[in-house]
Amino acid sequence: MNSPQKLQTEISNNMRFLRSWFQRPLVTGAVSPSGKALAHKMASYVNGDSTAPVLEIGPGTGPVTKALIKHGVAEERLVLLEYSLEFCELLRQRFPKAMIIQGDAYTLKQTVGAMMQQKASAIVSSLPLLTKPQDQRLSLLKEAFDLSEEGAPFIQFTYSAASPIPLNSSSSTVSFSAESSSRIWMNIPPAKVWVYKKQTAL
Ligand SMILES: C[S@@+](CC[C@H](N)C(=O)[O-])C[C@H]1O[C@@H](n2cnc3c(N)ncnc32)[C@H](O)[C@@H]1O
Repeated sequence: MNSPQKLQTEISNNMRFLRSWFQRPLVTGAVSPSGKALAHKMASYVNGDSTAPVLEIGPGTGPVTKALIKHGVAEERLVLLEYSLEFCELLRQRFPKAMIIQGDAYTLKQTVGAMMQQKASAIVSSLPLLTKPQDQRLSLLKEAFDLSEEGAPFIQFTYSAASPIPLNSSSSTVSFSAESSSRIWMNIPPAKVWVYKKQTAL
């Protein structure tokens, strides 16, 4: 794509995003799409060589999707779960080989379980998790692990200083490890990437 075209796409992505934020601020969770540095950091935690599906939750206009493909994930491996009908339409045009599912991530197994032929090698989420109660976030993580291969990462970005998945919660029914990246200053607003992995009992 040449530069004027690239600029036009970027402007139209920003406009769609802003419109979506005005319509549903708590669902959209940001006023503009993630920048390249953040998207590439998220993708870097995914095994590009695996042939198993990668489930992306909340792809929006697709900046993280693009980074995943650049990282080596074949488009056919991508399962994109997005709530917004408008973003789903756009994703179908931009990523015609990916499986696009419109639905609610907080009923993950019910929404995507039957459509996934194989367990995911990674789940990459851009959901605005902090708008939901802690128990709902923990239950999402548990369902995500149930749909993933053993040891698969659940990758999540946040603008917050703390982990968006509560650590050491007494109501958690799954034990997991957590690590975070350093803050990515080249994003507006600066963000961190957290990676959670299920811990299996010895
Ligand atoms: C912060 S935006 C991130 C978009 C994109 N991945 C990016 O990084 O620019 C969050 C996205 O999650 C989607 N979303 C929010 N709640 C959702 C839900 N319950 N199920 C599926 N998608 C959801 C929104 O529509 C939006 O596209």
